[in-house]
Amino acid sequence: MKRGTIFKRLFLTYGITIIIGFGILALVLMQLFDQYFIESKKQVLIEQGQKISQEIVLGLYTGQIDQQRLSESLKTVDSLLNARIWLVDENGYIIGVSGTSEDHYLGQKIEEAQLAQLYKGKNYFQTGTFGEKLEEKALTAGYPIFVGKVFKGGIFIHAPLPEVQKTFKDIYAITIAAILLCGLLAYVILYFQIRRISRPLAEISEAAKEIAGGEFQKRLSIKTGDEIEELGSSFNHMAESLERIEENRRNLVANISHDIRSPITSISGFVEGILDGTIPKEKQNLYLTKVLAESKRLGKITSNLLELSNMQQGQMTVKKQAFELNETIRRAIISFEEQILAKNLEIELHLFDEAIYVFSDSSLLERILMNLLDNAVKFTPENGHIRINTTDAPGKIQIELLNDGVSIDQEELKKIWDRFHKGDASRGEHRSGFGLGLAIVREIVGLLDEKIWAESGKDFVKIIFTLDKANN
Ligand SMILES: Nc1ncnc2c1ncn2[C@@H]1O[C@H](COP(=O)(O)OP(=O)(O)O)[C@@H](O)[C@H]1O
Ligand SMILES: [Mg+2]
Repeated sequence: MKRGTIFKRLFLTYGITIIIGFGILALVLMQLFDQYFIESKKQVLIEQGQKISQEIVLGLYTGQIDQQRLSESLKTVDSLLNARIWLVDENGYIIGVSGTSEDHYLGQKIEEAQLAQLYKGKNYFQTGTFGEKLEEKALTAGYPIFVGKVFKGGIFIHAPLPEVQKTFKDIYAITIAAILLCGLLAYVILYFQIRRISRPLAEISEAAKEIAGGEFQKRLSIKTGDEIEELGSSFNHMAESLERIEENRRNLVANISHDIRSPITSISGFVEGILDGTIPKEKQNLYLTKVLAESKRLGKITSNLLELSNMQQGQMTVKKQAFELNETIRRAIISFEEQILAKNLEIELHLFDEAIYVFSDSSLLERILMNLLDNAVKFTPENGHIRINTTDAPGKIQIELLNDGVSIDQEELKKIWDRFHKGDASRGEHRSGFGLGLAIVREIVGLLDEKIWAESGKDFVKIIFTLDKANN
């Protein structure tokens, strides 16, 4: 599967964020370690300086310890602290060192500034080479020695920095390893997370391409339990609708060619017969009547199609007003008198006893009733029943048209509203229809902001729709 740019982009962005984040964390941690370490080392050096000056040096100045014992004591502290110790007199000359390799420092003079600090009774603290004297950088703490109130010099303790830092190298290494491991783990998790997003997206885009190429039966099965799964199921819904539309379009082509070709064939056949004399003079009127009927059929399919497309493009104006319903229904039934009598249908009317006023568009309602009654009359077998019921609902009137002798299964029931959908019954003997009637009805009901639905059971089909009651 192809990895798209989303994958790369997310992976890069989050990856860089992780790296920068952990990098900063590592730097801050090291800085904190450093500071903490130097601070604590400084504390130790100062404490030791104090101790040495009190216990050992004071002993020397008071004559309790000799030079020999002094340098031994210094050596002990040196190895304990891992630091060099210098003893300086009141003039700044080095008079004692802790290491034998440092004997050459004896007698050298330290810088004035360094001594001046101690002279003032203050501790000295610095990192560096102690005025170029030391070979490597060190942490130096100085502590003054006073006997009574008299300045007697000081103690300098040098802790070599590389030594200091070595202690922390291990901690650094562990820290960095931990951070790297975390980063790696985060990256792995990130990889799978992003793939969880990007893979179904790629799948969806692949499917979209297939559908665009005309493979409408393509469906997705994304089970991520999140918005992407939702997207996938919306996509499937869309594909279903597209498949239906495509099926309708095929039907449309088939139906239109069928519905238009047969009248045109008859018309041209009859007219040819009249022109070349195959149809004798006395029969011409009969055939011309047939030609007229067929052209009317053609006219009807055209105007139905136009009507539907006008409505769908919102070019239909709705003029709602209050008018009487019972009368409208009766008039609509009367216009089907001929067919009703021909099929010997029984019409049952359950209307309101008194005049009932609805707030709607009377000519649109008439179109609805004509289409619904046309179906009822057309699909009810001979000697069947048609029942019309009007009932009261809060603020609404419900109109119910029921005819018996036919039933439509649930699957079919959903499709009857589609353009050019004709039930099997409508293909044979009832081929006058184009499968546009209910599509037009649904469109009109939508324009009126009302509801319509169909129900069917054993041997009956029921269409129910609502109308606004007029408040009088
Ligand atoms: N009253 C009804 N009784 C039985 N079937 C019906 C009824 N109304 C509609 N149908 C079914 O719904 C289909 C679509 O109706 P319609 O859109 O009016 O198309 P047409 O009348 O041209 O067939 C019909 O072909 C028929 O199968
Ligand atoms: Mg119809």
